[in-house]
Amino acid sequence: MEPRSTNGPLLFEPFVLRNLVLPNRVVVSPMSTYGAQEGYADDFHLVHLGRFALGGAGLVMMEATAVQRHGRGTDGCLGIWLDGHVQGLRRITTFLHRHGSKAGLQLGHSGPKASTQRPWHGGGPLGVEDAVRRREYAWEPLSASATPVDEASPTPRPLDEAGMDILVEDWCVAARRAAEAGFDVLELHFAHGYLLHAFLSPLTNQRGDDYGGPLENRMRLPLRIARAVREVFPEDRPVLVRISAVDGMDIGWSIDDSVELARRLAAIGIDAITCSSGGVKLPKGHVLVSRDPGFQIPFAERIRRETGVPTVAVGMIRSAEQAEGILREGRADLIALAREMLFNPNWAGQAALELEGSRGWRWWPETFRWWLERRARQLAPRPRP
Ligand SMILES: Cc1cc2nc3c(=O)[nH]c(=O)nc-3n(C[C@H](O)[C@H](O)[C@H](O)COP(=O)(O)O)c2cc1C
Repeated sequence: MEPRSTNGPLLFEPFVLRNLVLPNRVVVSPMSTYGAQEGYADDFHLVHLGRFALGGAGLVMMEATAVQRHGRGTDGCLGIWLDGHVQGLRRITTFLHRHGSKAGLQLGHSGPKASTQRPWHGGGPLGVEDAVRRREYAWEPLSASATPVDEASPTPRPLDEAGMDILVEDWCVAARRAAEAGFDVLELHFAHGYLLHAFLSPLTNQRGDDYGGPLENRMRLPLRIARAVREVFPEDRPVLVRISAVDGMDIGWSIDDSVELARRLAAIGIDAITCSSGGVKLPKGHVLVSRDPGFQIPFAERIRRETGVPTVAVGMIRSAEQAEGILREGRADLIALAREMLFNPNWAGQAALELEGSRGWRWWPETFRWWLERRARQLAPRPRP
């Protein structure tokens, strides 16, 4: 795909995926907040995500939301394994829509990384202390093979074929619930060492059956899930997949594997690939890609170029200029930000002012804009009489 040229900033041009028109190309990347009880979204999630819609983001993705109860990473992760979860989620999509953003939900299953403490409680496996102090009771993690995440973690139970059938069914039920809750977009979490990444990566998948060994076999369950979800989620709404484009430098899952996976996902009808990396523990002497600004953009660029599938760039993208440059150079189609959005939920509106001048006020809610535009005029330097 060629670099693109338009007069206005591309970041604030609409982007179309199936029947969905994203008003701009700023995406709030999914961020677990560990604030749920029994998976239910509450006022915290509404306010936290609502701020991004008021801040002008085109697409607000909700954090990894578990398709099964034991697929939660921590006791505070969101879930969608019950019909009762829909109501709280619908409040959020209603608010996002009312304020001009599209709503996305990331569906996931933590697999071997389930049953852990919140990051600020140590991030390790849940143990007796967590039960005593916080009533957080450990549960059994699942994975492709009996390979623990690290030396401190419990050995997960390898998923058998009956478990896979139930899992596929639960992803589908979750996708139906997400549609009912009003989400415009789904993102399937195949990254960061969670269950489906554990099937993809040769570092974590040591199975000897049809789901292990060659790439084709390792992709079998993730592709089956993508296909099944695509079939049940409304045809006019897009489904994205987030991958770890590489496990590390020169080891494990590779960018060539990602290109092949992206091709196969596109053939199923997946609409875009979000390009993250890492999440699987690497053998001694091997390292992750270094976390420099924009470190994952080369993956988004290569997948986009070699497969023609739209990509979402994410990872250490902070400035409006950097985001606009990525789009202009044809390296990705959408720009996702996580930590920068936590720091500044008005990032999109602020970026619009930087790139579009006073036209950028259109991304601000009228109730703020009326005051802020006037204040900007008052603050502007005046010519001396
Ligand atoms: C607090 C926090 C929670 C996160 N939770 C998720 C998640 O639920 N799903 C996911 O795919 N990535 C998650 N991520 C990764 C981000 O979506 C993003 O890919 C990563 O932080 C790099 O982007 P950044 O440099 O803009 O923060 C999380 C990151 C942070 C900081």
